[in-house]
Amino acid sequence: MDITIVDHPLAAARLTIMRDRRSDNSVFRAALRDLGAMLIYEAARDLDVERFDTETPVATATGTRLRKPPIIVPVIRAGLGMVDPALSMIPDAQVGFIGIARDEETHEPVPYLEALPEDMSDETVFIVDPMLATGGSLLHSLKLLCDRGAKDITAVCMVSAQPGVDALANSGYPVRLVTATVDPELNADAYIVPGLGDAGDRLYGPRNIHL
Ligand code: PRP
Ligand code: URA
Repeated sequence: MDITIVDHPLAAARLTIMRDRRSDNSVFRAALRDLGAMLIYEAARDLDVERFDTETPVATATGTRLRKPPIIVPVIRAGLGMVDPALSMIPDAQVGFIGIARDEETHEPVPYLEALPEDMSDETVFIVDPMLATGGSLLHSLKLLCDRGAKDITAVCMVSAQPGVDALANSGYPVRLVTATVDPELNADAYIVPGLGDAGDRLYGPRNIHL
């Protein structure tokens, strides 16, 4: 599997703010927004472009635009925080949605929403979720995307744990990973160590949906 670890001082500084337990919801959200834009920028590096003539006030220049914007698919809740930064980088992208919450006892993904195009065979998909822990949520999401024909999928995560990266690499799904870090392990509650805690809670407060 192709993995890009974005190694940049500005990305590392935002990630540090997100890791810091003293960062409150608004500080955490702002850092996540900035880091999200940086990761999307990197994920978009190899997108197909087309050239066209554009008139400057002085002469004709060769312009560049994306041939076809990717579809952004956040995994709710925490992935929602990455939608605005993704759209700030790629304003004409469409957005699909997947809702999954991990069962706190089993750590298995519990899906509760899918709002995706029927046919994704011609789409480039950026699936966005700050956290890749066991990999269960992402593997479930990849199945939904591949069942709709998606073949070109980039997972954009912020903190990825080695067990989740391994699960992704061994899954056989057509996916590459862009992440800000690969953390070494999970604790007994399947939280990433050192990680940053519960990304959804840190963005939005404790979950109030009981599934
Ligand atoms: C988090 C995170 C991922 C998932 C990762 O969501 O945003 O979706 O956990 O864990 P996994 O790799 O072990 O599946 P969570 O289930 O906490 O839901 P939330 O975003 O609604 O808080
Ligand atoms: N989900 C999170 O939000 N954080 C973790 O560390 C693991 C899963």
